[in-house]
Amino acid sequence: MKKIAVLPGDGIGPEIMAEALKVLAALELPIELKQAPVGGAAYELHGHPLPEATLQLALDSDAVLFGAVGDWKYDTLERRLRPEQAILGLRKALGLFANFRPAICHAPLTDASSLKPELVAGLDILIIRELTGDIYFGQPRGRRTAVDGHFPGAEEAFDTMRYSRPEIERIAHVAFQAARKRNKKVTSVDKANVLETFQFWKDVVTEVHAQYPDVALDHMYVDNAAMQLVKAPKKFDVLVTGNMFGDILSDEAAMLTGSIGMLPSASLNERGQGLYEPSHGSAPDIAGKGVANPLATILSAAMMLRYSLQNPDAADRIEAAVGAVLDAGLRTADIAAAGAATVSTREMGDAVVAAVLGNSAGH
Ligand code: IPM
Ligand code: MN
Repeated sequence: MKKIAVLPGDGIGPEIMAEALKVLAALELPIELKQAPVGGAAYELHGHPLPEATLQLALDSDAVLFGAVGDWKYDTLERRLRPEQAILGLRKALGLFANFRPAICHAPLTDASSLKPELVAGLDILIIRELTGDIYFGQPRGRRTAVDGHFPGAEEAFDTMRYSRPEIERIAHVAFQAARKRNKKVTSVDKANVLETFQFWKDVVTEVHAQYPDVALDHMYVDNAAMQLVKAPKKFDVLVTGNMFGDILSDEAAMLTGSIGMLPSASLNERGQGLYEPSHGSAPDIAGKGVANPLATILSAAMMLRYSLQNPDAADRIEAAVGAVLDAGLRTADIAAAGAATVSTREMGDAVVAAVLGNSAGH
């Protein structure tokens, strides 16, 4: 029996998670689900965004299904108590170094993109973001009084961008292996023209590439990659990059598909354990209104079945069901054309359940 830790979190997290759990229940899989609070919800209950019991549950599980965390009301808390520390803490504690963020433009949603339909029709790219290194976790970091620079004696803040060879090697292997199952093309995104860290990144990725002669590799500076993503996104297959560039480029890529409310993600460690979450945040502005799109979370559950539970058939069933409800014209507000009819979070979840069970996807 596979163990799943279910961490709904804050904002729209509980609503979208409820729909994903309905879909999993409909599949009647041999899985054991255990819920725990995380983020602001956990802070309210236990005074910490990642309580020991929640962390232990995640460590003891085969996979974590994660909703979203965060709310503006916690912005004034000291950093270690803010909701975002829960997801950063889970990534670090579980060693979830490989973050898969696919950006797929579902055919019926081509018009929902802010780009011209011909630029995004059929888009299927995969961003692989390194998730446990870079300036996100580099030490030292902090505030101090400057000893040199333009304003010695002034207060300053600093972070450390760093990558070690093994960190770059393992994410490069992940990217080349993923590309082998796709169109065999990797674009490594760096800032080697300015940063030592990313010259090293480029060098190491190039070395690892020697083991994958069947995969094409090119290198692109991050500013150019940001431009190419909106100019000709279909030229990409797999993009691999560091933690911060990947954070930024994956939000950009998400928008190509019409809505960030559609995009799942997987974060994997070396043992095949994974954390699965929608690429979007907790959207406190629409929380509790029943308008959030649950499809990214439902598709994240499908990724979980594929990558951590070795059940590709169940994953296929969920993905096909999502395709069917989109084909049938069901739209939450974020993916609806102006003035078109919309369904609620729950109605969207119900429709996916019906499609999974083989019933009609429409009303
Ligand atoms: C993401 C988010 C997180 C990140 C935040 C919430 C810490 O933006 O998963 O992309 O920056 O990694
Ligand atoms: Mn982000």
